[in-house]
Amino acid sequence: MKHILIFGPPGAGKGTQAKLLVDKYKFMHLSTGDMLRDEIKRSTEIGLRAKAIIDSGQLVSDEIVAEMVRLRIRNMKDDAGIIFDGFPRTLAQARKLDEIMNGEKQEIAMMIAIDVHDEEIIKRILERGKISQRSDDRDINTIKNRIDTYNRQTAILADYYKQQAKFKSVDGIGTVEDIFKNICKLIEE
Ligand code: AP5
Ligand code: MG
Repeated sequence: MKHILIFGPPGAGKGTQAKLLVDKYKFMHLSTGDMLRDEIKRSTEIGLRAKAIIDSGQLVSDEIVAEMVRLRIRNMKDDAGIIFDGFPRTLAQARKLDEIMNGEKQEIAMMIAIDVHDEEIIKRILERGKISQRSDDRDINTIKNRIDTYNRQTAILADYYKQQAKFKSVDGIGTVEDIFKNICKLIEE
């Protein structure tokens, strides 16, 4: 099994590329953002707590997110591996993930970062906000807070995986298809 982290700022194209990878390689898609939005939709206790945090552009607590991930990994079946999308997002989450994976006798193969500059991601998210159901896509201040949160808490994870020689990156500007081809090359190398 091959487990891959898709990394990058909000709107970089993590979800878009993760879906294509799932179709091609039969990975399991693990998006903590999608999981949290599902909790909100079902008005669960986690959902009720997460809603205001997500709408402010900050991060939901490491404990809540790590527990959701742990349960999901435990229920993994015959998938070719896991595509992690939007997790880990803090150093604490990355350490927790190592612990969970060790417990399952599994290992993260690589982190693939999608590089996109701020101007482009703001444009993409605002564009999607016109049609998506995502309340965190509509307001420019929320989007800026999401980017700020990424820069303050998440970006450093690149170093964590560089130190383990697991870090790779692709240019995230271009067509979805071209970016996908470049990601596949990294996976198959
Ligand atoms: P999450 O759902 O993970 O959102 P995000 O990281 O802000 O990123 P997005 O999903 O908006 O973007 P994406 O990179 O997936 O890009 P996409 O493919 O959609 O998290 C939401 C919130 O949940 C967080 O702010 C936090 O509060 C909470 N949360 C989630 N995980 C957490 C965790 N681990 N810990 C704590 N809190 C957590 O593409 C974006 C748009 O661009 C789309 O419209 C797409 O069609 C378009 N697009 C894609 N590729 C291209 C391209 N090549 N060219 C042009 N347009 C493109
Ligand atoms: Mg996403």
